[in-house]
Amino acid sequence: MVPTYAPAAWLPVRGKGCWLWDQDGRQYLDFTAGIAVSGLGHAHDAVVATLTEQAQRLWHVGNGYTNEPVLRLATALTEATFADRAFFANSGAEANEAAFKLARKWAHSRHGAGKSRLVACFNAFHGRTLFTVSVGGQAKYTEGYEPLPAGITHLAFNDVDALRAAMGPDVCALVIEPVQGEGGVTPATPEFLRAARELATAHQALLIFDEVQCGMGRTGALYAYMDAGVVPDILTTAKALGNGFPIGAMLTTEEVASAFSVGAHGSTYGGNPLAAAVALKVFETISEPRFLSRVREAGKRLREGLEALVAAYPQVFAQLRGRGLMLGMVLAEGFKGRAKELTRHTEAENLLLLIAGPDVVRVVPPLIVSDDEIDEALRRLARAVGAFIGKA
Ligand SMILES: Cc1ncc(COP(=O)(O)O)c(C=O)c1O
Repeated sequence: MVPTYAPAAWLPVRGKGCWLWDQDGRQYLDFTAGIAVSGLGHAHDAVVATLTEQAQRLWHVGNGYTNEPVLRLATALTEATFADRAFFANSGAEANEAAFKLARKWAHSRHGAGKSRLVACFNAFHGRTLFTVSVGGQAKYTEGYEPLPAGITHLAFNDVDALRAAMGPDVCALVIEPVQGEGGVTPATPEFLRAARELATAHQALLIFDEVQCGMGRTGALYAYMDAGVVPDILTTAKALGNGFPIGAMLTTEEVASAFSVGAHGSTYGGNPLAAAVALKVFETISEPRFLSRVREAGKRLREGLEALVAAYPQVFAQLRGRGLMLGMVLAEGFKGRAKELTRHTEAENLLLLIAGPDVVRVVPPLIVSDDEIDEALRRLARAVGAFIGKA
């Protein structure tokens, strides 16, 4: 394989719930959920049953036909959200690519070609296609890929004044993650989201929320915009939507969707019956009010435990931030740049954690995590922190 990744030396070979096993039978508590993907954990019984049943019935038909699972999934997603229409893709990046292309198409058709600028945030992450890295605003992902697509400007996340200053008649859309994931697990402030809505409307621009990471129950709401009380014009969702089966979706209103005509955009696999059947089962499970209230309860327990750890080691941690089961431990000044090193210590304790940039340890367990598993993870993490600072 091309050397784009630096994988762990061990191989996961089996998973169940919040647990993973390697080829030697060593067992890990997985609080990475495959990078905030496996909301229902590994090998979830109902999802496996749905996948198996659909695999025996129909996998793929091509876009000359629609199919039953995708029609059901589109209905479920639009009934549960602000949206009237869905477009299906295979990943978060592709859902965002569709969103950005739709915003341009909508603005061109309604207001002319001069209205094409996308306003996005520094430190955001929207995927790895050339358009999505360019909107993402992290130089490390665009360096060496120039020339980049034009007509994109960036501002500091949560800076309302900068947002106001960035707007103009040429803006077609504002792009925001309600909780920045890869950039450091940073929630948008309510003022920033409200200002974004007001300014987008005032400038006849679209508001796009990228909920690829923070959506599908991760924050304790089905989608983070629902808690924020700010409704976008376009929302993208992926990751947990398929629980590991590749699928992404772009949701939007009837009016905005109508800017896409037949042939304007497409994907060979997007919304194929197998992916759609799996996603529908996942969606039905996660969108249950009882499931979401358990996510909030689990999030509170995990937050309290992590806050206690942050308070116990003020020399190591500056802050805990995030929402629901999407939490980030921010390293203090003296430990900056060492997040990966700390996760190596947790791995030695058989606890898997992620980083979100060099200074933040990201904690995103499966949404089905039990109280016992949270407590066990906190014990393992405390031991790892002890070893990290050389006290063990
Ligand atoms: C907010 C956000 N948007 C988009 C993406 C890209 O998704 P994918 O890797 O499925 O293309 C990610 C992935 O981490 C993400 O966190």
